[in-house]
Amino acid sequence: MKTIKINLVPGDGIGVDVVREGVKALRRLADVHGGIRFEFNELPWSCEYYLKHGEMMPKDGLKILEDCDAILLGAVGFPGVPDAVSAQELLFPIRRGFEQYVNMRPIKLLPGLVSPIKNEKIDFIVVRENSEGEYCSQGSISNDGTPEKMVVQNAVFTQKGTERIMRYAYNYAVEHQYTKVMSATKSNALKYSMVFWDEVQAEVAKDYPQIESRKMHIDALTGYFIMHPDELQVVVASNLFGDILTDLGSAMLGSIGISPSGNINPEGKFPSMFEPIHGSAPDIAGKGIANPMGTLWAVVMMLEQLKLQESAGLLMNAMCEVLKEGLYRTPDIGGTATTSEMADAIIAKVV
Ligand code: IPM
Ligand code: MG
Repeated sequence: MKTIKINLVPGDGIGVDVVREGVKALRRLADVHGGIRFEFNELPWSCEYYLKHGEMMPKDGLKILEDCDAILLGAVGFPGVPDAVSAQELLFPIRRGFEQYVNMRPIKLLPGLVSPIKNEKIDFIVVRENSEGEYCSQGSISNDGTPEKMVVQNAVFTQKGTERIMRYAYNYAVEHQYTKVMSATKSNALKYSMVFWDEVQAEVAKDYPQIESRKMHIDALTGYFIMHPDELQVVVASNLFGDILTDLGSAMLGSIGISPSGNINPEGKFPSMFEPIHGSAPDIAGKGIANPMGTLWAVVMMLEQLKLQESAGLLMNAMCEVLKEGLYRTPDIGGTATTSEMADAIIAKVV
């Protein structure tokens, strides 16, 4: 019997509701598999924890978190604690500290779901840079309290950081038999960062002559997402652009509650972390109506990363079956089911 250790960080709001369902699904998958068991270690790090302890996680948080095979995170952020605190003191330290520099975000319309856009051929992946760029958390405030106040928010694009995300995207394309890579840029306006981003893409693309390389300014690309999603295969984007594009992408699937994301440390030196794309949604927190799909799909990605392809397939198929039948759906996708009812219906199909 192989034991797989999963650290859980449910976090805030609906994060708690959806991680609970993710755990149920993993337990079921272990039963069906027969040769594995999951050991869960739940960490209470959240905005509530911050209000009690004055920090989002203990000083040695990363040391505690590191001891596992993978991390499942719900969502962070809650009224009462500035959003900047929850992101800067929990989410980003994990992503950066564990060198999870790739954030994989599949955008795929699942059977039975109706996209709000006309072109329903939606099946691509966004490879988001996850460790630097616009979210490097550097900047300055000067002349505070005067009319001359000036705030500078830096964006950091290193050769190493930019090249590795580009290479990851191109390699991913090759390994998954894709033929096209689209890079999100804005080199017309951002004359340092995005000009450099384009240069790195052009350089890396030389090593992949079989891949059709394109770049598009982010403003045009948002329109392209809506008009021509069928043309997209692998989209590579900086931290900010990837963040924005994937909320758009998720909404294109019928609900922001559907998409998963994998914060990946490709070298396997640190654990990778899986989470739904959606946030903590304080407005529906505790109502038990959050869509469990984003988390269950994140669990699928986690299983794939743990090389449990068969279990991943079982859960993904179960999700698609329940969507196709249409009997158990949370309100965001047109039903009346609760989070648990929908998740239970899915888990019941894992056999
Ligand atoms: C996401 C979220 C986070 C991000 C927030 C909570 C800081 O929007 O994972 O997409 O921007 O990375
Ligand atoms: Mg986001």
